[in-house]
Amino acid sequence: MKLELPDHLDEAYTQATSCASIGQLEYEIRFLLIWLHDVVKPNYTVEIGTNMGGMAYVLDAVTTEKTVTIDTHRLVNPAVQNLNILYVLKNSQRPETGIHVTQALGGPIDFLFIDGDHSEEGVKSDYRIWRPRVRSGGWIGLHDINNDSCPGVRKLWESIQGEKIEIVQTPYHNNVHGYSGQIGCGGIGVVKKP
Ligand SMILES: C[S@@+](CC[C@H](N)C(=O)[O-])C[C@H]1O[C@@H](n2cnc3c(N)ncnc32)[C@H](O)[C@@H]1O
Repeated sequence: MKLELPDHLDEAYTQATSCASIGQLEYEIRFLLIWLHDVVKPNYTVEIGTNMGGMAYVLDAVTTEKTVTIDTHRLVNPAVQNLNILYVLKNSQRPETGIHVTQALGGPIDFLFIDGDHSEEGVKSDYRIWRPRVRSGGWIGLHDINNDSCPGVRKLWESIQGEKIEIVQTPYHNNVHGYSGQIGCGGIGVVKKP
């Protein structure tokens, strides 16, 4: 039995996966979307690392006001492009990017998803620069806390203190429940900003 998404999220997820534009494992993204929908209910969401745009598309489906996604290059698949999403073509680690996004967003960040530069220094910089822009009580997600090729992300995740949830797809999810996706190359950690 798979986690059932509300209809509008199911449609967004199906669209993003059918055009292969999302870099997330099935169980992890389903869990994250349901949790965002039921618990966080974000008005304003920011993603660092757009790539083909599928994650921004599904995040926007669970966001009531505005979604901003940032990348240094433009690769967004038109099948998941959405006029409500602001695509920012900038380096997330430049101070002017934070100022630009804050002005464009129109409200404090409720959910920040960090999935850009996966080097240890890169992910630490994104976390240090962007955490202050998340509202108190908002949440920060790190992608690839369980990816052997991104040890720096795991290291940062383990060093963070506070209210944390780990969403990790395991062989149990694949073998028993039939989720798809390669184990050991994902993992989402979310932490609440006090
Ligand atoms: C793993 S992909 C993102 C996948 C996407 N979030 C998804 O789930 O489908 C990482 C992206 O981060 C971008 N990136 C890397 N360093 C960056 C930086 N300093 N600023 C903005 N984007 C960056 C890369 O260009 C790449 O497209």
